[in-house]
Amino acid sequence: MSGCLLVLGASSGIGQALLQLAVEKGWQAIGVSRQARPATLVSSIVWQQLDYHQQDLQALEQTLPEICLQYQPQVLFICHGLLQLAEVKAEKTIRQLDVAGAGRSWWVNYLVPMLHLKTIWSYLLQQPCKVLVLSAKVGSNTDNQLGGWYSYRAAKAALNMAVKTAAIELQRQQRQTWIATVHPGTTDTLLAAPFTKNLPVGQLQTTAETALRLWQVAEHLQAADHGALLNWDGKQLPY
Ligand SMILES: NC(=O)c1ccc[n+]([C@@H]2O[C@H](COP(=O)([O-])OP(=O)(O)OC[C@H]3O[C@@H](n4cnc5c(N)ncnc54)[C@H](OP(=O)(O)O)[C@@H]3O)[C@@H](O)[C@H]2O)c1
Repeated sequence: MSGCLLVLGASSGIGQALLQLAVEKGWQAIGVSRQARPATLVSSIVWQQLDYHQQDLQALEQTLPEICLQYQPQVLFICHGLLQLAEVKAEKTIRQLDVAGAGRSWWVNYLVPMLHLKTIWSYLLQQPCKVLVLSAKVGSNTDNQLGGWYSYRAAKAALNMAVKTAAIELQRQQRQTWIATVHPGTTDTLLAAPFTKNLPVGQLQTTAETALRLWQVAEHLQAADHGALLNWDGKQLPY
């Protein structure tokens, strides 16, 4: 496998590690983010800052298709995700369900990734490629044994369903583009930081370890995985 990797939501800890890994493997690497380019990234990574928000998606709708046409990425990762806000914590009980917090979670975890897919849809129909949308195992109904985290779980469950729906639509017109949601495993990033204190030894992955695992998932992504929720080891998870 060689070519071009595009990471949307590239400021994420996992997204940055994917970009670095792509460069190490001799790939072209493009990151798109609301944030300015992190100083730590190697200079060969192309970085596009797109200042979009809920009220104004025009910049995104114009620029993303142009980036796809210019660089022709074969692998795309969509990395957006939000577990909690500084002012609104992930819910331990339904009593903590908050309109603003739930709305923000829905926006970042579900709508932004799906709007990205919508924006690059024409490209996905033209160019065979592999699309991995970062989700979470806690978005699996079947896997939910612990409860809590109402908004994050529900938004990721919606994302899993919407990506499966997109996979079905895609398959009608382009049988060589594959898309799946993927659980990256617990990884040492800003998102996970408040929840990693009591983890058993060995359960917390570095971003570099997770990037390598996700790279392997992308390498082995095949028709049978189209629309599935995958674990970091490539195995399918129940919805
Ligand atoms: N870390 C873990 O243990 C873990 C476990 C399970 C699943 N995941 C999933 O893996 C993915 C990457 O997570 P991470 O741990 O690398 O997270 P992170 O470092 O906290 O990165 C946050 C990501 O969310 C985006 N984002 C945050 N607020 C946003 C907003 N208001 N509007 C649009 N985008 C926003 C950022 O995009 P910009 O670059 O545009 O700012 C960035 O891509 C997420 O989908 C997360 O749910 C992570």
